Amino acid sequence: MNESLILSNLNDPERFRITVFNEIDSTNSYMMQLGKKGAPEWSVAISEKQTSGRGRRGHTWQSPKGVGLWFSILLRPDLKPEYSHHVNLISAVCLSDFLEREIKAKTDQQLSIDLKWPNDVLIQNKKLSGILLQSNIISDKINYLILGIGLNVNQTAKDFSGHLREKAISLKIATGLNWNREKLLAGFLESFHKDYHYYLANDKIMILDSYLKKVLSMGEIISVAQNGEAVRGIFKGLSSQGYLILQQGEKETVITTGEII
Ligand code: BTN
Repeated sequence: MNESLILSNLNDPERFRITVFNEIDSTNSYMMQLGKKGAPEWSVAISEKQTSGRGRRGHTWQSPKGVGLWFSILLRPDLKPEYSHHVNLISAVCLSDFLEREIKAKTDQQLSIDLKWPNDVLIQNKKLSGILLQSNIISDKINYLILGIGLNVNQTAKDFSGHLREKAISLKIATGLNWNREKLLAGFLESFHKDYHYYLANDKIMILDSYLKKVLSMGEIISVAQNGEAVRGIFKGLSSQGYLILQQGEKETVITTGEII
């Protein structure tokens, strides 16, 4: 990962503080520490490889060397803690829009990139990217959020081990092309910086609407895995905080965490 190439692809490199690692346990863990020390927002850590990449709900995130983007961004939004999930939604919408534009520009293909609640980014129903948002709250205020993104870029099918081969996809597998990771990262950071400010400055309904346009299974019967149990119902929509509303008969339940299976 070439740091100067990332910087030269940014319109305004001053906005970000980027640290590039060859190897690290987890960029999210590193940034959680940095946040505690008072690091400014838009500090970004990216690593060629993670030895203990972390996924949602205690999963590990395979982060092999040189083929993906494994990075975390420190944010200090002026947002009530109960709305922090909106940052998940903004990043998922922004990433999928950004990648659709990039794919169109590079291949002239209109590949659809979908979201799976809460924030998986999918191509052809396979996982291209995952997002892990962690927070540090002090006295009912967001001190900082760490937005961790794993994006599969140049893996071939054989680079995914075991069960992942069925479930995961990379930009290379989807398009047949190699992608420059530094350019992608810089492009995403620019887009996200813009979208983040746009959505946070506007009515909260905007991000909920944008998200619902891209999310799969809306209005359909779904099963959500929660603490080892599957709950079934209709995906009715999103609560004001961005959580999933599941309708079971007359009853509506707000699901804050879990996975659609
Ligand atoms: C998921 O879908 O389960 C979320 C995966 C998030 C992975 C990224 S890679 C960069 C950052 N550092 C981590 O340890 N995890 C996130």
